[in-house]
Amino acid sequence: METDFGQNTPEWGGRGQAGHVPVLLKEAIDFLAVTRGGTYLDATVGLGGHSSEIAKRLGAPGHLIGFDKDPAALERSRARLQHADSGSPVTGDRSPNSDWPTVTLIHGSFAEVGERIPPASLDGLLADLGVSSLQLGDAARGFSFQADGPLDMRMNPMSGRTAEQVVNHLDERELADVIYEFGEERRSRRIARALVRARPILTTKQLVDVISAAARPMNQAERRIHPATRTFQALRIFVNRELDDLKALLEAAPRVLKPGGRLVVISFHSLEDRIVKDAMRDGAKQGQYRLLTKKPLTATEEEIESNPRSRSAKMRAAEKI
Ligand SMILES: C[S@@+](CC[C@H](N)C(=O)[O-])C[C@H]1O[C@@H](n2cnc3c(N)ncnc32)[C@H](O)[C@@H]1O
Repeated sequence: METDFGQNTPEWGGRGQAGHVPVLLKEAIDFLAVTRGGTYLDATVGLGGHSSEIAKRLGAPGHLIGFDKDPAALERSRARLQHADSGSPVTGDRSPNSDWPTVTLIHGSFAEVGERIPPASLDGLLADLGVSSLQLGDAARGFSFQADGPLDMRMNPMSGRTAEQVVNHLDERELADVIYEFGEERRSRRIARALVRARPILTTKQLVDVISAAARPMNQAERRIHPATRTFQALRIFVNRELDDLKALLEAAPRVLKPGGRLVVISFHSLEDRIVKDAMRDGAKQGQYRLLTKKPLTATEEEIESNPRSRSAKMRAAEKI
């Protein structure tokens, strides 16, 4: 079982809001094969690291469409992607840079791509899943077990249940199932029982303390990761419906890509990677895709050294036939 260790490490969380270092940047751009004048969709704009590299290669005749659930991320990347803010959630202004593409930023889930993007209109689609450093580094968002904050964990703070509501209102069995299914945590029942007894749980620190007391590491392997890692991953996935959104995106991808268009997905834990692998394999069997990566690409030692988040990254790519 592989878990999203890299996204909640001290090194990673500690970088805070200084900036998000894009993972597998060169590899993603190479596999997208960005062509000048094309139309590309970045399903997870985040702080715009991958998007800005795509935009540079598109030039003025191109079009970059970016989705993010998180309005704060879009606000930050809007400045980076250098185009004026019209005040609308959907903008398509030209930047002052004369060789810059049209950039359209959309506040919404990439699960909506199938409804919002016309069929066979994209030359490439990138998804770099998970959370950004902006989200992890801001204690007030409640994503990190390294900092104390309110138990929120919503990528879109304007909608859906918070982690606090989930932790305090699910019954013990449902809570255990969430922790087991989305965190692949073997001690899910014991943790769920402790959480229910400790209610109300209002902060990340309280949550960490309860989990740490209930699930002490039993051996060397367990000591390698923080006892709260898997439960935090599970709650985040559940709160943000991450796996359902990913399935919806992958279902829409072959429809919105042009023949020859590229799909590139970077995932950070085995639940995501399995979904991506199956969707691409099934697509290939049905004659929709040519697989470009037989095995997932991972980060080099060098990248892992400079960016610990890349440790658990896996990239898969396919071309629409
Ligand atoms: C790992 S970050 C992307 C970083 C980006 N590639 C960069 O270089 O700055 C993931 C981003 O995807 C967003 N996100 C996650 N799930 C999403 C979804 N279902 N729909 C839209 N955005 C999503 C998160 O809010 C976060 O900003």
